[in-house]
Amino acid sequence: MFEPDPALVSLVSQAGERAADTPVSSLFIGRWSSRAMTGEPIPDHVLFALFEAARFAPSSYNSQPWRFAFARRGEPEFEKLHACLSEPNRVWSRNASALVLVASKAAFTPDGKTEEMMSGSASFDAGAAWASLAFQASLLGWSTRAMGGFDRGLARAATQAPEGLKLEAMVAIGKRGDPALLPEDRRPLEKPNRRKKIKEIVFTGGFPADC
Ligand SMILES: Cc1cc2nc3c(=O)[nH]c(=O)nc-3n(C[C@H](O)[C@H](O)[C@H](O)COP(=O)(O)O)c2cc1C
Repeated sequence: MFEPDPALVSLVSQAGERAADTPVSSLFIGRWSSRAMTGEPIPDHVLFALFEAARFAPSSYNSQPWRFAFARRGEPEFEKLHACLSEPNRVWSRNASALVLVASKAAFTPDGKTEEMMSGSASFDAGAAWASLAFQASLLGWSTRAMGGFDRGLARAATQAPEGLKLEAMVAIGKRGDPALLPEDRRPLEKPNRRKKIKEIVFTGGFPADC
């Protein structure tokens, strides 16, 4: 049974933003994306556990379209990935322990076939893989924050990503750090944020026009 760290539980109850109407594993409520990170080295057994979790995500035709390019803080490749981020993301993510560029590849050859097909759900499937990575990180006491704010052209050049890869998101991984590490305007955001209500996102049998 997953036991979130007590500091996180108290933060969740203080913020009062993530009470579930129907009981659900604290794994889902306890995960949140901090910006403040300590910058400490991430051990291989942690980093690769996150990739393993991602690897076992479900995908259309079991096509497994997710691809990851990573770099650890202190490596030259980290600087290259970091330089692709938008300025606001660069500020906090310099203290990440690792940066991961998540990509998806729509072209695949189904098992037992010889002809290539294009998946219509490569991004959707890569999203499932990223979520698995994020939850595994949370289980191991590490934090993740995805970023859409990066220059895709720079990132493609920095990672030599072939044209067939769609660059989906950059992910910062780190140990949650002191909010004082952040610019002042970001510090109040270091807590779990809100969610829509179930009735705003879940509908019986069909969708209302205003959903
Ligand atoms: C695809 C994607 C792109 C995101 N882009 C950014 C970003 O560029 N910068 C940032 O600070 N956070 C970014 N986020 C983080 C979201 O703002 C955050 O996940 C959301 O507010 C929910 O908060 P939580 O993850 O703490 O539950 C992104 C998240 C996702 C999944």
